[in-house]
Amino acid sequence: MESKNFGYFDDKNREFVITNPATPFPWINYLGNEDFFGLISNTGGGYDFYKDAKFRRITRYRYNGVPMDNGGRYFYINDNGTVWNPGWKPCKTPLDSYECRHGMNYTRITGSKNGIEASVLFFVPLKTWAEIQKVTLKNTTSEKKTIKLFSFAEWCLWNAATDMENFQRNWSTGEVEIDGATIYHKTEYKERRNHYAYYTVTNANIDGYDTDRESFIGLYNEFADPQCVMAGKPSNSLAHGWSPIASHYIEVELAPGESKDYIFMLGYVENAQEEKFSAEDIERKKNGTLISSQDSDVTLVNKAKANALIEKFSTVEAVDAAFAELAQMWDALLDKYVVKSDDERLNRMVNIWSQYQCMITFNFSRSASFFESGVGRGMGFRDSNQDLVGFVHQIPSRARERIIDIASTQFPDGGCYHQYQPLTKHGNNDIGGGFNDDPCWLIFGTVAYIKETGDFSILQEPVPFDNEPGTEVSLMEHLRISFNHVVENLGPHMLPLIGRADWNDCLNLNCFSWDPNESFQTTENNSEGSKAESLMIAGLFVVTGKDYVELCKQIGDNAEAERAQKCIDSMVEAVKKHGWDGEWYLRAYDFYGNKIGSNECEEGKIFIESQGFCTMAGIGLEEGMVDKAIDSCKKYLDCEHGMVLNNPAYTTYHVEMGEISSYPAGYKENAGIFCHNNPWVIIGETVAGRGNDAWELFRKISPMYLKDQALHKVEPYVNCQMVAGKDAAKPGEGKNSWLTGTAAWMWLTVSQYLLGIKPTYDGLMIDPCLDSDIKEYSVKRILRGTEYDITVKNPNGNQKGVKSITVDGVAIEGNIIKATPGKHVVEVVM
Ligand code: GLC
Ligand code: GLC
Repeated sequence: MESKNFGYFDDKNREFVITNPATPFPWINYLGNEDFFGLISNTGGGYDFYKDAKFRRITRYRYNGVPMDNGGRYFYINDNGTVWNPGWKPCKTPLDSYECRHGMNYTRITGSKNGIEASVLFFVPLKTWAEIQKVTLKNTTSEKKTIKLFSFAEWCLWNAATDMENFQRNWSTGEVEIDGATIYHKTEYKERRNHYAYYTVTNANIDGYDTDRESFIGLYNEFADPQCVMAGKPSNSLAHGWSPIASHYIEVELAPGESKDYIFMLGYVENAQEEKFSAEDIERKKNGTLISSQDSDVTLVNKAKANALIEKFSTVEAVDAAFAELAQMWDALLDKYVVKSDDERLNRMVNIWSQYQCMITFNFSRSASFFESGVGRGMGFRDSNQDLVGFVHQIPSRARERIIDIASTQFPDGGCYHQYQPLTKHGNNDIGGGFNDDPCWLIFGTVAYIKETGDFSILQEPVPFDNEPGTEVSLMEHLRISFNHVVENLGPHMLPLIGRADWNDCLNLNCFSWDPNESFQTTENNSEGSKAESLMIAGLFVVTGKDYVELCKQIGDNAEAERAQKCIDSMVEAVKKHGWDGEWYLRAYDFYGNKIGSNECEEGKIFIESQGFCTMAGIGLEEGMVDKAIDSCKKYLDCEHGMVLNNPAYTTYHVEMGEISSYPAGYKENAGIFCHNNPWVIIGETVAGRGNDAWELFRKISPMYLKDQALHKVEPYVNCQMVAGKDAAKPGEGKNSWLTGTAAWMWLTVSQYLLGIKPTYDGLMIDPCLDSDIKEYSVKRILRGTEYDITVKNPNGNQKGVKSITVDGVAIEGNIIKATPGKHVVEVVM
């Protein structure tokens, strides 16, 4: 299994195939797409949860484990004393073959050893609160084989935070129940919880089980050598407190060439208070017909819902059909935008992985990954609005619901909670509000939704403040106060006051923290009398403000459009006057009114965010500011792997700037390549018509063009939040994969600004910005039920500018194709 590359793309199956289990970091995938979710690594690590990775953690996971990624969904095979796992870990017995296929919401791990092939397909059926693990065991020898199969899952005691800290309680609360092949986890069920979990085999009897971790593994053993597995014998243990687990034991006989399927299912159930317990089971227990080893238990859980699901998925046919349904869902989701070009990496990104990652970030915001513990952060206000833009074309109705949820956490003055908890949908008091870019993002998300769907009715939707019933106003009113929140919070240069921070959570200009026990994001702010202003918010305000003006015009509110336009004009003037440093846009003014991101500064002379947003806004385009700013980005920020956030990196702590200067040079917000903001510059480059530059940067940031999987370290099929910058010890090393605004921004950039197919209120706008080498491509785009088959030809290798468009053979004026029903063939010449 020696190889420099760890895997390859299988585009036909929409999979990334990992061929060496010892990847440079666990390479994960996500199961489930609505309520029940799982994270799964290429060796079977990871965990499940229901809706909320903090409050409804179903299985346990250890961060900071040694080795990393220990614990998870494990199948152990004891074949005459040789013990191995199909996913290599945890035993790490050398396998005869190994393969992990990460696909769209499913993972298939296959390993073989000594003539036994074991393949496990992991997925969550649509609309189902359970993970299915279909285990296929095949005897490839010409002799009969008898092997011992053990499953393994470890229960989390529901609250993932207290599960890792409150041991004086936890080690006494664990409760389980066993009924046939089903192991129930019911800790705290008899009192305040209305939910339990279970792990079962739906299509076979078991020959034994374990539910107590110590009995199964042994106090001095490890996941790699559980004493029961090593001995080839379960202990039929019953957990009382300590660490409850679920392990099934099955003796499997396989004739030569024979293969058998076992369907394992790990599920979650909620029962109404009056239906929590089953009278019938209690009766069965009394008369001795209940097959359970629980001795004195009169609070048997009501298994009706679990049993119904077990019944539903008790055949291979039912499981295969559910798996096919999942694939069909993805066929439909990925059919809305399909590019065909001679660049297979571009096709792969646009048609598969970018859209997939957008769904994942939409679902999880920044809560649960191998870098986000699932306990710290809920749904971000700004993050979720941005994620929406990458997802809205997939399932508009879910985007609509999300917008209403987000807006419901706003305050009457337009400010908003920075985060909310997905389970309750209520604003998160621990972090509070005061991040002054937040309100603008609501406009950004809502406009994207309406342009995709044409559904203006959302603007009339009544939406409360801070989830307080009775306070409802229309969503349009929420947008108005969002816009106004910037206008009403201007500083001495008439630029937006930054508040706690803008998009850059680590530029904490009012924080002044010397206490290492404080969080930069939540500590008391010193904003009284602050002059701290943000050029990033200024640019963002102009970009989203223009959207707001256009929206007002669409709904016929010309007076409001006019008022708003004046505010934007003043902002543009303020930026030109007080936000231009000569070669680039400033980043901010600090508490005292000193410049940040200026040539006058010793470190941090130039920052990417204001270059991105002010060029995107086209501020000073005629005066040459946009071009100059882009030139400066290329000169000071760019490197082989993308553009760093700021340059030079900070090497000392600046109390007046906060967290940014707490990071070592080259990482995260201190001169890391924060992938999220690179697309802003790419879009700025398209505004300036610089197609070659735009594509060059795009190819640096898209993982599809990666040259060195080992250096990049994290998954090569999705974007990560940050790649170590040129000042770091190991430039090019990725971190914080999966959950990042980079996903939505890369999607927006490639689909709308590079390939140039952009939904507008009236229809589709065609405005590509190309690398001069791109001579032709086609895009199939379905918008509001209409299919457009668009071919773009670029015979002269231009970078921007559409010469002619025909729709169904008829030339049109301008570059907007009206949304009319049916199917249209569009030919575009640049
Ligand atoms: C993280 C946060 C996001 C923030 C960014 C820059 O990705 O989720 O909200 O804008 O960091 O600090
Ligand atoms: C840290 C990270 C930043 C993230 C923030 C969230 O400051 O550097 O990226 O947005 O935490 O709280």
